[in-house]
Amino acid sequence: MAMLAPTPAGLAGRDLLSVDQLGRDRLIELLDLADHLKMLQGRGVPHRLLPGRTLAMIFQKASTRTRVSFEVGIGQLGGSAVVLSSSEMQLGRGESIEDTGIVLSRYVDAIMIRAGAHAEVEALAAAACVPVINGLTDLHHPCQALADAQTLRERLGDLDGRTLAWVGDGCNNVCHSLITAVGMLGMEVRVATPLGFEPDPAVVAAAGPVTVTDDPLEAVAGADAVATDVWTSMGQEAERDQRVSNLTPYQVNRELLASAAPGHVVLHCLPAHYGEEITHEVLHGPSSAAWDEAENRLHAQKALMAMVMA
Ligand code: CP
Repeated sequence: MAMLAPTPAGLAGRDLLSVDQLGRDRLIELLDLADHLKMLQGRGVPHRLLPGRTLAMIFQKASTRTRVSFEVGIGQLGGSAVVLSSSEMQLGRGESIEDTGIVLSRYVDAIMIRAGAHAEVEALAAAACVPVINGLTDLHHPCQALADAQTLRERLGDLDGRTLAWVGDGCNNVCHSLITAVGMLGMEVRVATPLGFEPDPAVVAAAGPVTVTDDPLEAVAGADAVATDVWTSMGQEAERDQRVSNLTPYQVNRELLASAAPGHVVLHCLPAHYGEEITHEVLHGPSSAAWDEAENRLHAQKALMAMVMA
């Protein structure tokens, strides 16, 4: 039995700002490696693929899963992390993101950043000499999509020809990355969202065929997977009341899921706002894969780090 992790082939370009940068073959290679690392971790087999390597993590927004999974993951790979809150950095006092990238490149082997504007992460990646990983921007959340794809493969097997329905806020970073990733893996993608909440047109164009409807029942009918996220993302708090009003018909609940395919799975990247985008009953029910999704952030990001930092 092969117990050592396969040698990662590495990523052309080495940054991961959006999931489409991987391409289908690299995405599958990464997911296969993530499955292998999860198996090794489960059996207690060391897999120190990145001994002595250091990851800098910059957080301009709050995080639980991203912070802990990256920090624990780099440790399990034999490396270490430096966790930086932008408010405690000179970045928070006006130092440019470009200068920050140049300087950090002299110290560390990769940079993970959680930011608001996607352009800021692109600017960091352009200036840095080490790989940059997008840990969430307003436009994309590729690391979440990797974990989601790993989870869907675990639950559904081959995803080719299966259907994913996104229900809720379509102009959402998790939606953008998820529909791109599962489209690359051959899934049919449907998005149910109200007028004015549609996914970014450029993301849809790159993601492949996506059906956008304002009817959640139409989207969920026969779907193998149903995914959602909070209605008010970080930075949108001032719009909360209006967003809740617009999105209330798009709650993922038992009644909506009655029309999904038998054996369907429900995805939620967490944190959840119970009673808004999803009910407690569904998120903690038998169709929920949310807790595996959260765990798989660890395994998928270990595979990603092994590929970009090897
Ligand atoms: N899903 C996700 O990115 O979780 P955190 O915001 O806790 O990192």
